[in-house]
Amino acid sequence: MLEMERYYAKRVEEMRGSDIRDAFKLTEEPGIISFAGGFPAPESFPVPLIEGLLQGLFEEDYSGLQYGPTEGLEELRYEIALRMRADGVDCTTDNILITNGSQQALDLICKVMLDPGDLVLVEQPGYIGGLNAIGNYQGRKIGIPMDEDGLRIDVLANRLKEMAAKGQHPKFIYTVTNFHNPTGVTLSTTRRQGLLQLAQEYDFLILEDNPYGLISFGQEALPHIKTMDDEGRVIYLGSFSKILTPGVRVGWVTASQPLIRQLTIAKQGTDLCSSTLGMKLVLESIRSGKLEAHIESLRILYRRRRDLMLQALSTYMPAEVHWTRPSGGFFIWLRLPSYIDTKAMLPFAVAEEKVAYVSGKGFHVDGSGQSTIRLACSEAFETDIEEGIRRLAKAIRHRIEAAM
Ligand SMILES: Cc1ncc(COP(=O)(O)O)c(C=O)c1O
Repeated sequence: MLEMERYYAKRVEEMRGSDIRDAFKLTEEPGIISFAGGFPAPESFPVPLIEGLLQGLFEEDYSGLQYGPTEGLEELRYEIALRMRADGVDCTTDNILITNGSQQALDLICKVMLDPGDLVLVEQPGYIGGLNAIGNYQGRKIGIPMDEDGLRIDVLANRLKEMAAKGQHPKFIYTVTNFHNPTGVTLSTTRRQGLLQLAQEYDFLILEDNPYGLISFGQEALPHIKTMDDEGRVIYLGSFSKILTPGVRVGWVTASQPLIRQLTIAKQGTDLCSSTLGMKLVLESIRSGKLEAHIESLRILYRRRRDLMLQALSTYMPAEVHWTRPSGGFFIWLRLPSYIDTKAMLPFAVAEEKVAYVSGKGFHVDGSGQSTIRLACSEAFETDIEEGIRRLAKAIRHRIEAAM
């Protein structure tokens, strides 16, 4: 067999597999309660709605089976622009590019923006898919820490000052503003404003990724950074994956028209267009008025799961363990005593306690985070959540006692 590595481009060295995907393998064994995968709950998919919409599509014509424009269906871009305007973003259809999920938007933006070695500011911990997209184009990631209010703007300000003194200029910052993956936290309004001010002062772009924003548990939505942007500095990413189904693979970018044009050219070489069928399904789900009601049911479902998990955490976890209290989305973030290596603990937790999670280390660009854990409440059965957390607490307690 040929040694294929001889033919690979240099940038392949920067490409990383995902720790999350690796953790999935462990969860396939019977009897395991897994909080590892952050997928939407399959039982939440609106199957009758989608079946009805699909049938309706073919009553009209078969255009859903044809190629579509690279920018995406005009009518869907219009509907998205309408919603973004209702959120306070100054935009029209021409500011919208439909992508094959927001993951493709991350890839296209890195493809268009990054030369090897370009500096990119990222959240630490940060979304692995975003970090990997940057790595694939050989961007150099600089991690900025987070707390309960999201990105630490004070640390970022100091870092930017140091970088400027060395003549270093980041191209953009990548941030997940609402119900962050992996921590569940939300960037406060003051920090959103502070971030935009820093971006203006140091002249970098903001990549605002918001796939979870509509899965909120009651708190009023905070303004997108994009609403404060009057010069095209903010690139906003949205997705239907978490509010309809990831199977449609429909996301979007809201950005200045010149950037939308450039991203469209990049997309032509990638996939010609997003799935016409997926776009039509999303469009009809919006037009039927049923998407709104569906999103409301998701808020109730995921809120219940978050509540169950928070309750179980406070019942079972040892005092040394701390966690976030998200007001939306899929994730809760755990901090364990620093002497516990959560990656090393995982095989033990799976084999002995039959519970799985994702170690937080892979979300950190500087190799730290060894004693953190991401728990997803989205996919676990409600009847399993308490028992799963009880098992996890037992595994952690075992490690604490072993260290004494
Ligand atoms: C923060 C974040 N951004 C982007 C994505 C990609 O989503 P999609 O490509 O399905 O829109 C995900 C998926 O989990 C995510 O958590």
